[in-house]
Amino acid sequence: MERFLFVLGSNWQLSLAELDNYLNYSQNRGKIIDYSANIAIVEFENLHQDKQYINKLMEIQFILGGCQKIAEIYDFIDINTIQDAFPVQINKYRFVEKTREKILSIIGNLIIGKKGIFPKVYESMFYAVSIYPNLYDDNYYSDILVKHFLPFLNKEIMEILKQKGAVKALYYQYPEKNIKKGNLNPIFPHHIIKYELLKENRAEIIFGFTEEGVYIARTFTTDDPNFKKKIDEERPYKEFKSAISPKLALIMLNFLNIFVNREKKKILDPFIGNGTIGLFAILQDFQIYGSDIDKKKVKNTIRNIYWLLGLLEEEIPPFIDKSVLNHDAKNLSDVFEPYFFDGICTEPDLGPFYIKKPYYTQVKELIERNLEPLYDKFFREAYQILKPNCRLCFISPVISTIDGKDIQVNIEKLASKNNFILIPLLDLTRINNKSNQKLKFRRQHIKTLIDAKKGQITKRRLYVLEKK
Ligand SMILES: C[S@@+](CC[C@H](N)C(=O)[O-])C[C@H]1O[C@@H](n2cnc3c(N)ncnc32)[C@H](O)[C@@H]1O
Repeated sequence: MERFLFVLGSNWQLSLAELDNYLNYSQNRGKIIDYSANIAIVEFENLHQDKQYINKLMEIQFILGGCQKIAEIYDFIDINTIQDAFPVQINKYRFVEKTREKILSIIGNLIIGKKGIFPKVYESMFYAVSIYPNLYDDNYYSDILVKHFLPFLNKEIMEILKQKGAVKALYYQYPEKNIKKGNLNPIFPHHIIKYELLKENRAEIIFGFTEEGVYIARTFTTDDPNFKKKIDEERPYKEFKSAISPKLALIMLNFLNIFVNREKKKILDPFIGNGTIGLFAILQDFQIYGSDIDKKKVKNTIRNIYWLLGLLEEEIPPFIDKSVLNHDAKNLSDVFEPYFFDGICTEPDLGPFYIKKPYYTQVKELIERNLEPLYDKFFREAYQILKPNCRLCFISPVISTIDGKDIQVNIEKLASKNNFILIPLLDLTRINNKSNQKLKFRRQHIKTLIDAKKGQITKRRLYVLEKK
């Protein structure tokens, strides 16, 4: 079976959960057979048999919010062989040399050929080696892989290409100071575009580590972060304090589990703000509806939608102005028909934007007086306007207080009261769990996942709820 390597987004648990959900419920069925904090190894049921499979991979890349790159795997070397060839301390020099030769012969066989990383020899060739470790804070990565394995690969692959007939073979040079420090990030998606690494005579060659070993792969498609950034940052109206990231918006849309006929599916964001979820839903072909209690936000979102449709050179759908309303989410059933929506995806009022950590009592009062009653009434309304068995993707705040405690709304209780079932974000029966504590998934941890930057006072917790 052909295998593919997916480079995960910075929130690797959420990215892995999104990918597993996609492989379980989309038309491109498959399974994650191995993973680390940076990569997932995927086996598809049929996708690789399709002649156009690269196009399909590009579609998958476009849909997923938490995937940076997709690469095709050419071979695998087990972790013992790598550690024998690149030990922390060299005792048996001859043995190390012999094992390195073994690794070289594996790489030599897969670099060029009809089924190789490069289909044939070109006069001029260029490649970038990217090493994705099991975990970035692993000493083996900083001390051995960056300082010894990377230079070894760069030099030896160049030799192989020249021996096979390339007149000029060059590789991407990472900054020397990062290599010396052992602190290195593999090249970013925008570099792949800049260095044209998807062309036939150029390549990004990924060495992706898990606990089991290293997968050797070639990147075939990559995220276009500049395009997402443009939508997020250049839209006429924005407010970064209260807006979710494009990545999270896409991940939420995917947890609605709607992967076919998206253009026929009606999606609602009833706390639409300046429209991040709405704009990315349009990009993903959904029919978008929205509402907000703030008149100005409604106007802003409509202007942002016009701007996006202009950018995409798409026709303005009729009644677009009427699909974003100035309305209270506590009374949605007054303006929307029962069983109207195929999905609801939203980030509601999360409380004030705190610059300093608030007191525990302050947040407790905010939750009891404002957030809980708001979410409760919204869930009641959402139940009425959603179609049966359809999903609601919801963000709820986790607020860090000055007293050292994190407080949150009991969403599970509110959801169950309003006839929603909480769907765990990751199906543990589909994943081969890991022995490393940092990589292991525990049952209680996969019901919901947090998206936050370091030190953020209000963190976002993602819930997926299904109408009973
Ligand atoms: C956190 S913001 C959403 C931001 C949005 N995701 C974005 O990207 O711009 C929450 C929004 O909920 C709106 N809101 C607060 N209470 C509401 C209510 N009862 N009904 C509808 N909207 C409400 C606010 O006006 C605000 O625009």
